[in-house]
Amino acid sequence: MEVIKAPRGTRDILGSESWKWAYVSSICREVADDFGYKEVHLPIFEHTELFSRGVGETTDIVEKEMYTFEDRGGRSIALRPEMTASMMRSYLENEMRSANQPVKLWGIGPMFRYERPQKGRYRQFQQMDIEAIGAQDAFVDLEVINFSMELYRRLGLSNLQVLINSVGCPKCRPNYRKKLQDFLKPEHDKLCDSCKNRFDRNPLRTLDCKRPVCKEITANAPSIMECLCDECKEHFDKLMLGLNRIGAVVKHDKRLVRGLDYYTKTAFEILSGDLGSQNAVCGGGRYDNLSEAIGGPHVPSVGFAAGIERIVLTMEAQGCSFGKEPSNKVYVVAAEPCVRIDTMDLVRKLRMNGISADMDYMDRSMKSQMKSAGNMAQYACIIGSEELAKGIITVKNMSESTQEELTIEQLISKLK
Ligand code: HAM
Repeated sequence: MEVIKAPRGTRDILGSESWKWAYVSSICREVADDFGYKEVHLPIFEHTELFSRGVGETTDIVEKEMYTFEDRGGRSIALRPEMTASMMRSYLENEMRSANQPVKLWGIGPMFRYERPQKGRYRQFQQMDIEAIGAQDAFVDLEVINFSMELYRRLGLSNLQVLINSVGCPKCRPNYRKKLQDFLKPEHDKLCDSCKNRFDRNPLRTLDCKRPVCKEITANAPSIMECLCDECKEHFDKLMLGLNRIGAVVKHDKRLVRGLDYYTKTAFEILSGDLGSQNAVCGGGRYDNLSEAIGGPHVPSVGFAAGIERIVLTMEAQGCSFGKEPSNKVYVVAAEPCVRIDTMDLVRKLRMNGISADMDYMDRSMKSQMKSAGNMAQYACIIGSEELAKGIITVKNMSESTQEELTIEQLISKLK
């Protein structure tokens, strides 16, 4: 019988990597605290309808990538492909409208999308997500973009490009859709199958297609900026003014459209120059009509989500620091089998004092215990019947090969 493997597109994050994730999460938390965002833990599965109505029926996420199943009660359930719709659901369900607006929430956790796996793209991946719910002001968009830039600054990332655009609103986007369709119509037959498919339903996505033919066709497509209504234009100008004021280097990418239908006005993405084709380290924007799409009142909002795997990959590629990898300070070595019970007690006392310590549980020789100490710890603390009689411990610094005899009190105060 073959040994069962993990499903395609999933990864085991092992000890050699998980401490890096813990570091990134701790910086996310720090920045969230400084920006006044409160952490929430939301369900990993939701009613499928939340995403089909929230994210949009015509998006790749809903059409092709969602993990959907019927539960034992006959309900259609989906593993969350993203967190924004859940955040809005939670805001509405928990009556956060009566709190001070905007309500600022953040969360971190796994998302699920049935995509073609490759480096930086997985079927289960981790997102850090922030949402500022309930305010229309373009300066909230500015805060959200500033949050992402501050996060990457604190993580030590460089070689990033911030792309920004406006995708308009239900008032002005239909004019642009029409203009774009008129432009694309003569070339319709040359478009790739997915662009042909979404020509009627979602033609803006053509601008985002990576296929060379579609890129060539859309190279001179009209810009959405020409079609924005006064409100969207003013919003965009105010945001750009703010970005300029805080000295943010951003590129206005007139072709930037996002893969989720809920966006209105601001859309942005941050790309890493050190990743391959899956180079977006975060994406976000404003979504003023998501609440209505899932049955709520008008709640203008903005947010972004960052992929933790891609952040870690970029940090590794750029040699950024992840802080200090946790390791054992002490490995307690039993010089004779009869003192193993004493080594156990010493390990316990060290741990109680916040000193990381370990020992052998395999009844190995002193020589191989010393080898483990060399591999795993900074100090070997050796106990034998001689040490026990004298009330001391032989403490060997493994990197400097120095040795001293200390009482347990002296050992604790030295290592604490
Ligand atoms: P998104 O652009 O679909 O936006 O995803 C955000 C980020 O998640 C991406 O930039 C990327 O870093 C990471 N990501 C997405 N898919 C994968 C994958 N298959 N494997 C690894 N990483 C991935 C959203 O999800 C929106 N909810 C963002 C948002 C929040 N908009 C407003 N608020």
